Amino acid sequence: MKRRVAILISGRGSNMAALIAAARAVDFPAEIVVVISNRADAGGLETAGASGIPTVVIESKPFGRDRAAFEAMLQRALDQHNVELICLAGFMRLFTEQFVQRWHGRMLNIHPSLLPSFPGLDPHGQALKAGVRISGATVHFVIPKTDAGPIVMQGAVAVAGDDTPDTLAARILEIEHRIYPEALRLLASGKVRLVGNVCRVSGNAASDAALISPAAG
Ligand code: GRF
Repeated sequence: MKRRVAILISGRGSNMAALIAAARAVDFPAEIVVVISNRADAGGLETAGASGIPTVVIESKPFGRDRAAFEAMLQRALDQHNVELICLAGFMRLFTEQFVQRWHGRMLNIHPSLLPSFPGLDPHGQALKAGVRISGATVHFVIPKTDAGPIVMQGAVAVAGDDTPDTLAARILEIEHRIYPEALRLLASGKVRLVGNVCRVSGNAASDAALISPAAG
């Protein structure tokens, strides 16, 4: 049985599209049963609709600071679609601790940096300012702390001397689109388990690719 997944978005939804595309494969262990946006103007809604995925809009703005009331509506939509796993994909709304606990071990997020470096806003600007030579993206379980939580998968890119936040973001986005479906595959096929703050992956050999940046010589 494929695991039933909801993708939560607030914007263009390119990670959502990558997840939808991957989940089309017959042997993918999860199916995307609904895309939920907290903004009616999220570009990803059209993409999801064109892919035949049901979409739901629950505008969060009218709820103001009443996160619990927003989450009650969200939970109702998740229940209606019998959702088992959640993928946050550019979802720009913080959750209450209660909601996060309820979905503990069943909710993933993607962040465009090698966490725990550069959580929060403008990760690419933060990376360039820090002068790191390698950056990347992280898929992690959601915990109450923002952009933290057990790491499922990471992918790295070399930072070029002339990178701007935009050029770096574009290269990292390509990595995001590769690792998010793979991380969901691991979770949905029961290959990951949480041991305290660490995510263990069964039968997982580390990639042997070494990335050295800048290139020597
Ligand atoms: C991605 O960079 C993701 O890592 C971050 O927000 C961005 C969303 O982009 N959390 P998209 O909507 O998936 O195109």
